[in-house]
This record gives sequence, C-alpha cells and structure tokens, in this order.
Amino acid sequence: MKKNFIKLIIISSVILFSYNFAYSADIDAGKKAFAKCKACHSIKEGGKQKIGPNLWGIFGNDIASVKGMKYSKALKRYAEEAGTWQEDNLNKWLENPKGLIRKTKMVFPGLKKAEDRDNIIAYIKSMGN
Ligand code: HEC
Repeated sequence: MKKNFIKLIIISSVILFSYNFAYSADIDAGKKAFAKCKACHSIKEGGKQKIGPNLWGIFGNDIASVKGMKYSKALKRYAEEAGTWQEDNLNKWLENPKGLIRKTKMVFPGLKKAEDRDNIIAYIKSMGN
C-alpha cells in the first residue's frame, strides 16, 4: 500500500514536471530565436540603436519611448492608445507587425509559430525586468 502511494507520487511528479517543461516558455530558445531581430535591434543594457531601438527593458515599458529613436507616426499614435508593451500586444506585434500597426516602419514579416513568440517574449522579459 505504502509502496503504491510512493509510486503514485513519483509518477505524478514526473508528469507535472514534463508538463511544465513542455509548456513553459524557454528563455534560451528565445535568445536563439532573437537572432532574427538582431539585424535591427540590440537588447543589452546601454546597447546602441540600430535600425530599430535598443530593446533593453522594453517589456512593461512605454511604447515608442526609447531616447534617440525616430519612430513612425503610426507607432507613436498606437502608443497613445495602448500605453505599454504587455504579453498580449507584444504577441500580436511579433506575429504580424503590420497587422497590429499598419504603417509601422518595422519591416518584419512576423513569427508564425506561437512557440517562437512565447520564447522571444520570455527572453525580452529577462532582459531588463
Ligand atoms: C528590419 C529591421 C527590424 C527587424 C528585423 C525587427 N525589428 Fe523591431 N523594430 C524595427 C523598427 C524600425 C522599429 C520602430 C517601428 C516604428 O517606429 O514604427 C521597431 C520596433 C520594435 C518594437 C517596439 C519598440 C518600442 O520602443 O516601443 C519592438 C518591441 C520590436 N521592434 C521587437 C522586435 C523583435 C522581437 C524582433 C524579432 C522577432 C524585431 N523587432 C525585428 C525594426 C526591426
């Protein structure tokens, strides 16, 4: 009886663990996937501006507020209504930038895989938050 109970505990922990493992966003994978953004964005603290703004601390921050960056009018207008970058709008933005903000000057087709977006968002969160 006791043995069975212990077995049950072990089995359920393994299931729980693999469930978490399979479904949690992965910062390391996000870092790798961020290679697609690197042509235009740095993400280190104090990193320089490229074609796009440095993304250090961007999660939860005001949209279009990185100093020195010349944003499109479209993104600035969006900033007035949406305020900050959160899970939800960042996810839509990365899936299809022009779908969220038609006249943005971020020329990027978007990440079609939800997993890639989740991982990149986890990575962005880990950089400056
Ligand atoms: C070809 C260059 C380019 C690529 C590739 C690119 N971006 Fe951008 N990104 C920009 C530009 C330019 C802007 C400013 C857009 C505007 O002003 O409309 C921007 C804006 C952003 C913003 C909003 C910043 C703010 O200050 O509010 C985020 C977040 C962002 N990009 C994330 C990403 C991520 C993550 C990737 C990779 C999946 C990526 N970008 C790929 C050029 C790029």
